[in-house]
Amino acid sequence: MSAIVVVGAQWGDEAKGKIVDLLAQRARYVARYAGGSNAGHTVCVHGTTYKFHLVPSGILHPQVTAVIADGVVLDLRAFEIELAALQQQGVDLSRLRIGQGVHLTMPYHRLLDELEESQVEGRIGTTKRGIGPTYADKAWRIGVRVADLMERERLVQRVQRVLRRRNPTIERVYGAKPITLDTLIEELARYAELLRPYVCDAPHLLMNALEQGEPILMEGAQGTLLDLDYGTYPYVTSSHPVAAGACLGTGVAPNRLTEIWGVAKAYTTRVGEGPFPTELHDTIGERIRNRGREYGTTTGRARRVGWLDLVALRYAARVNGFTHLALTLLDVLSGFETLKVCTAYRWRGKETREFIADAHQLAQCEPLYTELDGWMEDISGCRTFDELPPNARRYIHFIEEYLNTPVKVISVGPGREQTILVE
Ligand code: GDP
Ligand code: IMO
Ligand code: MG
Repeated sequence: MSAIVVVGAQWGDEAKGKIVDLLAQRARYVARYAGGSNAGHTVCVHGTTYKFHLVPSGILHPQVTAVIADGVVLDLRAFEIELAALQQQGVDLSRLRIGQGVHLTMPYHRLLDELEESQVEGRIGTTKRGIGPTYADKAWRIGVRVADLMERERLVQRVQRVLRRRNPTIERVYGAKPITLDTLIEELARYAELLRPYVCDAPHLLMNALEQGEPILMEGAQGTLLDLDYGTYPYVTSSHPVAAGACLGTGVAPNRLTEIWGVAKAYTTRVGEGPFPTELHDTIGERIRNRGREYGTTTGRARRVGWLDLVALRYAARVNGFTHLALTLLDVLSGFETLKVCTAYRWRGKETREFIADAHQLAQCEPLYTELDGWMEDISGCRTFDELPPNARRYIHFIEEYLNTPVKVISVGPGREQTILVE
């Protein structure tokens, strides 16, 4: 029996999709546990690129049942578009399941997210996918779930109730056009039929599988530093990307978890607003952005780029309890004489190795760097640890020692085969 969690260790886009696809080779179930269509997970197999937003990235393996578990929020329009794209690429979607406790992201959620983001003050730089408002309704207990969608009477009641609260805000606070109940119900009725074949009881499905000794993989979205509680609030998403979120989002008990994999880039990126101590605003940053093709999978926005922040990564290792680390996009760092890694912050005159998650205080931190020798060789063709240039191996060992966590996978390119498994 194994229950593996794959967690983003930074601010998202660490190549979780690629690592999930890799580890899913030995899984029977792959369950997405948090976030919604704000996620964009990329998997490249034999020259074909698959982009996942809601569907778990493990679905490409024929033995895998892919589960959208209850911690996820599902936008029906985005889901329909994604299904069509995957179908066109020949992906077998008969192995997809959706938990009946999944909350639905509705047109009014997207609208509210957009209206809020159009205010200059307090902008978070969200993906405008309605994520915050959906989780807000969930917490306010006025959310609409997949189970509601399956029964028309129940659906009408739930939607009526939420529109009574949300429409006045849309109209009076933002001066926008309210949502019409009848039109929305008609749209939802059509989506109900799209979803029906996939609906399941996700916690039972997964608990039964575990009891039968089936290996499970839990796929995170976003990253630790975007966690609602442990990230750089308020510049975070509204769910729990951390490993504990895998239990909340799937119903799998904490004592069942056998491996917790952190996925980290060999440098750092961030999309949206918020503090970023190691951010580069110079030609080095430009070079990393271009080489790493650092443009968002979901929104196309240019990602902010910076040196590897080990203070932040050590925090992620501790908050999540990483047992394994996958280090990705290492190929992007080829061709630099020296590489900087942040090994401490200076904050209000004092040096610290402890990450400061408070956004206001983090913005005051000065990163203190250790310089390591770089390597010039193109490493995208390396397939074993020993083939890597000595300085690349030193870079990896430095990270392992600082984090006290073994690097078990190294990614040197987007392709499934561009992967080094460390013995
Ligand atoms: P996720 O959200 O964590 O799944 O990551 P994304 O898919 O949003 O972003 C990662 C990007 O890097 C994708 O375009 C991947 O195809 C690409 N990628 C993954 N691993 C590597 C790697 O080792 N090297 C390079 N150069 N690109 C990679
Ligand atoms: P994956 O799963 C990177 C960021 C947004 C914004 C903040 C809040 O591909 O790693 P939201 O729309 O969630 O309310 O936005 O979180 N963000 C991501 N950044 N990768 C993601 O997903 C992200 N999902 C949300 O840019 O700063
Ligand atoms: Mg992404």
